[in-house]
Amino acid sequence: MSNNTTGTRSTRSTRDWQEADARHFLHPFTDFQSLAKKGSRIITRADNIYLWDSDGNKILDAMSGLWCVNVGYGQKALIDAATKQLGELPFYNAFFQTATPPAIELAELLAEVSPPGFEHVFFSGSGSEGNDTIVRMVRRYWDVLGEPGRDIIISRHNAYHGSTMAGASLGGMAGMHAQGGLPIPGIVHIPQPYWWDHGRHQGLSREQFGLLAASWLEDRILELGPHRVAAFIGEPVQGAGGVIIPPSTYWPEVQRICDKYGVLLVSDEVICGFGRTGRWFGSETMGARPDLMTFAKGVTSGYIPLGGVMVGDRVAKMLIERGGEFAHGYTYSGHPVACAVGLANVRLIRDLGLVERVRTDVGPYLAAAYRELASHPLVGDAETCGLMGALLLVADKSGGKAFAPELEIGMVCRGHCFREGLIMRAVGDRMIIAPPLVITRAQIDEMVGLIRRCLDLTLADAVREGWLKSA
Ligand SMILES: Cc1ncc(COP(=O)(O)O)c(C=O)c1O
Repeated sequence: MSNNTTGTRSTRSTRDWQEADARHFLHPFTDFQSLAKKGSRIITRADNIYLWDSDGNKILDAMSGLWCVNVGYGQKALIDAATKQLGELPFYNAFFQTATPPAIELAELLAEVSPPGFEHVFFSGSGSEGNDTIVRMVRRYWDVLGEPGRDIIISRHNAYHGSTMAGASLGGMAGMHAQGGLPIPGIVHIPQPYWWDHGRHQGLSREQFGLLAASWLEDRILELGPHRVAAFIGEPVQGAGGVIIPPSTYWPEVQRICDKYGVLLVSDEVICGFGRTGRWFGSETMGARPDLMTFAKGVTSGYIPLGGVMVGDRVAKMLIERGGEFAHGYTYSGHPVACAVGLANVRLIRDLGLVERVRTDVGPYLAAAYRELASHPLVGDAETCGLMGALLLVADKSGGKAFAPELEIGMVCRGHCFREGLIMRAVGDRMIIAPPLVITRAQIDEMVGLIRRCLDLTLADAVREGWLKSA
């Protein structure tokens, strides 16, 4: 047991926090030994788009926490909503024919901001749980329809759908499947719509490649037999996979294929929902009409855990009218405090016009800045969608050759970001951002200035170490 369990921010040094952290706290997705050696960075407070660590360093958070703090830090409306609800009714469940006002009101508001045909919500505590609900609900739908054999869900390599057994199985992360006997049965994967890796070398335009990538879905449906395929799930833009923005032709073609075979279309909106792409939901930006949408993160801007599934009329009608009891739910389904914060957050997004702002103002402004960054000698490809962006680092700009994987160039760049006061994430050689939607044009200039500086420092390392390749 720690000998200092009563310490506060003011009485404990960074070193002290780090030692206690290493002794007791097993972090997610972490090599425990190597983190203990290095010591965690301790974040102690935040405001707007900035964080401060325990040494007082100010950091620009270009990742919105973990893709979630859409309205930025320190929003009084959310803090007040939580405080009020904690005092009034901190918890009651929704199991036994009961409900609480915040859950009802949030369900009502979510139906309002969702595309037409979404009138119902099933709440969970996180995105992973939301995707567990997806697996249960999709299979239940086909059961009720009298087709219990239709139970296979198709997903994609390098997708991220969470870390529970079902979430990680739906995801296509090889490293996750290697631990714990995943995927669970009845989930299969097709390649991702990543033009740079799979289409560029074949001389295909992005649009041609989008159609090809969608055809892999049809191929797999036919191979399995349409009568076995329950659903297809995808993130509108793959986030954790490296902000893989699909060609404009991809989602409309996926939609056509799902319609043709009656396969349910599931859009995982955990990252893309609540304005990130310039519409309330990413599927709207991509031109798809899903039957089900998973959400989390941006629904409360991450201030408090909440997730769930928006259930479209096709599925809702079947479950409500013919399904009887749906034997599934969580203690925190419709948690009143989480829902009160969600309500304040969604209202704030609407009242500040953040979705429109991403689409018509800061999104295009970021896109223009990224077009300029594309000329940096280290950048092979620069892309944005709304307020998500990716820079692919290459060892030879003219031919687009990759760095040797063992150099971990993304981590080198990320190291510079840490030291320069910028949170930018590395996924392999892709440097990715998803800043809060409240970011201003001046703050985008500041962020892009920091990004450019970190690219320059990484380039200087590459030149000094002789890592660059010639075409
Ligand atoms: C697309 C997507 N789905 C699901 C999840 C899982 O959400 P959670 O971490 O809240 O369980 C994530 C998390 O990053 C995600 O990006």
